[in-house]
Amino acid sequence: MEQALASVGTGPLLARDLLSSADLTRDDNELVFARAAHLKRELRADHRHAGQPLAGRTVALILEKQSLRTRVTFEAGLDQLGGHALHLGEGIGFGVRESVSDVARNLERWVDGIVIRTFAHSIVTELAAEAGIPVFNALTDDEHPFQALADLFTLREHFGRLQGLVMTFVGDGNNVYHSLALAGAVMGMEIRLAHPEGYGPNPAIVALAEKLAAANGGNIVVGRDPRQLAHGSDALYTDVWVSMGQEDQSRARLASFAGYSVDTSLLELAGAAAVAMHCLPAHRGQEITAEVIDGPRSLAFEQAENRLHVQKAFLVESLGR
Ligand code: CP
Ligand code: NVA
Repeated sequence: MEQALASVGTGPLLARDLLSSADLTRDDNELVFARAAHLKRELRADHRHAGQPLAGRTVALILEKQSLRTRVTFEAGLDQLGGHALHLGEGIGFGVRESVSDVARNLERWVDGIVIRTFAHSIVTELAAEAGIPVFNALTDDEHPFQALADLFTLREHFGRLQGLVMTFVGDGNNVYHSLALAGAVMGMEIRLAHPEGYGPNPAIVALAEKLAAANGGNIVVGRDPRQLAHGSDALYTDVWVSMGQEDQSRARLASFAGYSVDTSLLELAGAAAVAMHCLPAHRGQEITAEVIDGPRSLAFEQAENRLHVQKAFLVESLGR
């Protein structure tokens, strides 16, 4: 780890985009985890950091969907390391008042990186292609790579390893599942998905996850029955049944996902040492019961805390000096 920590600003992540969880190798993830553990310890001990590796660095935040965790952890994280977050909100008319390309060609002249949360994944790839500064995906309809990074860091803290762990995602084959499948595969985990008919994942992402799993000793399993798939899992993960941008499908989704709740009996079926995970925000009584998410086996709020540490670590490796 000391070797990893010595590599500020010269590591393999230097000035690279993060658009998909598949963009990060095992070594990249380990580098981020090592620095995140160090930053977490330092912040908890001293409420501040000895160094300011992001001094003089400004990152623009374009958030086209609602956010609590992503916005606060990027803004507070940059602040804690001497950098600055510029929240652009809806005021820039992204892609409407001005094209994605022109926004990129302006921002690259003023700031050091762009964090973006938007709808179509193609917007993020277009922005990254046009901008001469790194672009970081803070959630699209297809992926949520910083969430997966924080979640795997949380699991590693809890179990002391990732290789060989079994995580079962219960519910929608959505953006959060996609990133967990890719990142988990890279880290040699078995990632299972139990989803209702009609709400499966993107086959191209599953195919890529299968390829990454085969290369890293992991496994990808996709099926229907939550009870069958939960059995023998180290972690049960769930997320909302209606993601941002799908509000008009709410009625059909709530009906289809009945029976896909993480409750105490499903957690018992997973195993005595199994934990429950959720990216938040949560709907208690839908995808997860209050008893589970607010209970002693829930890692949900550790995951939320770790967004801060992991993103700070990532930014130091990417933009630090
Ligand atoms: N988990 C997550 O990304 O939370 P926000 O939507 O509040 O940013
Ligand atoms: N799948 C959810 C995740 C929120 C963090 C959504 O896209 O709304």
